[in-house]
Amino acid sequence: MNKKAILCVILTIVCSFRAFQLYWSSTRELRSTDGHSWLPLKKKKVFTETTRIDRLKNDSIILDIHLSRYRPKGHTHHFLHFIQSIIPVVKPKFVVVTGDLTDAKDKKRVTSQQYIDEWDTYQQAIEEKVDVDWYDIRGNHDCFDLPSWQSRVNYYRTHGKSAGLVEQGKGVYSWQVNQPMGDYQFVAIDACPKRGPSRPLNFFGYLTSKTMDQLEKALTYKPFNHTFVFSHYPTSTMVFGVSNKGRTFRDLASHYSLGDVLKSYDPVTKSLELELGDMKEHGLYRVVAVDHDLISFVDIQLPMKQIAKKGPVNALGLVYPMHSNKSIIWPEIIHPPPSILITNPKDARFSIPTKEPLWRIRQSTHIRFLVFSESDTQDLSVEVSIDGKVHSEQALFVGDTKNPLWAVAWDASLYEDRKPHKLSVKVTTIDGVVGASSSVFRVDTNRAKIKGGSGEFIIKSKMSTVLICISLFTITTMLCLLLIPKFYAPQHQDDFSSKNRMNRLLLRIHTIDQVTTKSRYQRLQKQILIWSLRFLKLPQDQVTVWYITFFYILALLTLPWFRADFIPSGDSLAERYGTFYMWGMVFANEWVPIADTWLFATDQIVFDIFVFFFLVVWRGTDASDLTCRGGLNDTSRHVKLRRQMNEMAWFKGLEMVYWLWRSSELIALSSFYGGIWPTLVQNLLVYWMLFVGAVLGWGKNGVFTKKKAKNRFLYLVEGCVSCQQQQQKQDMYTDKTTISDEKKERQYTSSTSITATTLTQEEEQQKVGRKKNTLKQ
Ligand SMILES: *[C@@H]1O[C@H](CO)[C@@H](O)[C@H](O)[C@H]1NC(C)=O
Repeated sequence: MNKKAILCVILTIVCSFRAFQLYWSSTRELRSTDGHSWLPLKKKKVFTETTRIDRLKNDSIILDIHLSRYRPKGHTHHFLHFIQSIIPVVKPKFVVVTGDLTDAKDKKRVTSQQYIDEWDTYQQAIEEKVDVDWYDIRGNHDCFDLPSWQSRVNYYRTHGKSAGLVEQGKGVYSWQVNQPMGDYQFVAIDACPKRGPSRPLNFFGYLTSKTMDQLEKALTYKPFNHTFVFSHYPTSTMVFGVSNKGRTFRDLASHYSLGDVLKSYDPVTKSLELELGDMKEHGLYRVVAVDHDLISFVDIQLPMKQIAKKGPVNALGLVYPMHSNKSIIWPEIIHPPPSILITNPKDARFSIPTKEPLWRIRQSTHIRFLVFSESDTQDLSVEVSIDGKVHSEQALFVGDTKNPLWAVAWDASLYEDRKPHKLSVKVTTIDGVVGASSSVFRVDTNRAKIKGGSGEFIIKSKMSTVLICISLFTITTMLCLLLIPKFYAPQHQDDFSSKNRMNRLLLRIHTIDQVTTKSRYQRLQKQILIWSLRFLKLPQDQVTVWYITFFYILALLTLPWFRADFIPSGDSLAERYGTFYMWGMVFANEWVPIADTWLFATDQIVFDIFVFFFLVVWRGTDASDLTCRGGLNDTSRHVKLRRQMNEMAWFKGLEMVYWLWRSSELIALSSFYGGIWPTLVQNLLVYWMLFVGAVLGWGKNGVFTKKKAKNRFLYLVEGCVSCQQQQQKQDMYTDKTTISDEKKERQYTSSTSITATTLTQEEEQQKVGRKKNTLKQ
């Protein structure tokens, strides 16, 4: 048995234990402390349907803003317009800002920190003009470069509207709207990491077991007609802990109707996630209404044409729209066109069959919609059409000053063909300004496809899980590809079984080569054989490369990758400097299980390790290692080899460019996290890149490696008839003087199964001669 290989396997097992231990401690905060199983519990159904019909209208606005001191386009500017000109028109019951209140990026958008003036603008603008309820939560931008909740740079704590609620509820707060027709609950979740690294490794959010307890409390406290959950992070970019009762997020998600992320419907928890575009660039906000317990929403854009492309900047070039007395410099009032939110029949793409009384659509007597407009209702002309045909009934205003509700009589039974239909509403003001909205509805309570494309897919997959799987799968694959051939590596110089194995592989390759027209299967088979040969050769041909790659992969699993100044705003070194593990970050001996480490790890493992590993193994053979002598043109007896793609100069050039690109990515890391020391010096990845660079340059078949005469060697494969025949012909041809030399060589190698031979000098001369001839022709 191969002792070294066994030692390596034992080492791998030991490292796996250590890796598991790291995983275990890094996710401690996500697990329940009571020792409950973290397997999902059986779900209980919470909502029961009744058949009462009455009216409810209740709307809210949701947005994502990014106030930025450096960006005069959009951002702050849009926000001020929104507060000044939209809220008075829509008159929502409340506004929810789902995070990224500020942008927190620097001028060049490289680094990030919390700027107090962005927060001042936010706070001041709300104080001056907002007279509806306002709820906010932090997004990842609001916790860039944030040492802790208590830190002085956690400006949300001092400037955010709902900071008190977040603090009290340990990251989760809720409010209720109780109306005669029903009770509604709204829950907001702050999923920011406890310690927020600055950009770019701060994209994922997580909920600790404690926060999950809070969420569980909020969601199961009493049945509501609907519960809405707001969070900055789509569930796909969050890592969820398990509550003390052992509940996972999935269990809890079945208790709410609507989350606020990408548009997707989860068939398991039967809840809807709706992502909202942003306010900063696209000026988007969402209005949500509940009508007879049917939830509808519309995403509306600010009237961009009326808004100057660039907002004003102050003398320093910063966006800071404040007078010296600290009051906001408001932009000019804008006049949004009428916007329409159809509430019945609700859009079938977003229906939630188990939580909404969708049968009410079929029984309804009227189409209902809200029209938000500055104009008086009598100055609006409304046109309703279904499937492109103008509806015959007249739309009537049935609302009041707070509820701009309109209704049109209809006969829902006309649309009972189990197909989706299109409803359009067009509203024209007296000045000829038009607003329009349309929806797809069904009266048979079925859902219509969301057609969200990739967006819908992304929301359905848990990104952190996908990343963890890719990383660990790649690592396992590489370890197998390293370890298995190690067992077959020769123990000593003349290891027959190992050489026999090589010979057998080569023989099979040569046999396939003799077939003139190869089937697809044969070609595939040949590739598999060639790659097996290459992997087998690695531990004997490139011993150092093998060992370094092996140890490096184990190091990635068990050791810290690098140390860096992740939170420059921290007051002490312990607050600032974090240690990066694949499993999470450690600050002052405390794990932050932020999933960004996996994003970074996947990128490194796939592009910096797997790709280079693959390139190095590929170089393990060159064309002369694989070509059968019998395939040569026997009349001229010279070798004309088709080179492997990776032997071409252009390919080697590409390899170098790739290496430079990957190295520059690492250098970029230092510009984010505190410069060369410690980010680059205390960094495993840097040493790996240096090693890889050296191997590509000066290793086997490297760019700068001198081509040995080996290039003119061809293996004589035992058992290959074609090789043998060619050899005999060569023997007959070869001059007596050179034959003695060659005989010596063959005698030396005849004890082994593979024999190599060189082309004779004569042949070489002939080759040159032929070249000349062809030139002459
Ligand atoms: C809200 O729920 C209650 C209790 O289940 C029910 O009686 C009521 O009809 C619901 N409200 C609406 C608008 O459906």
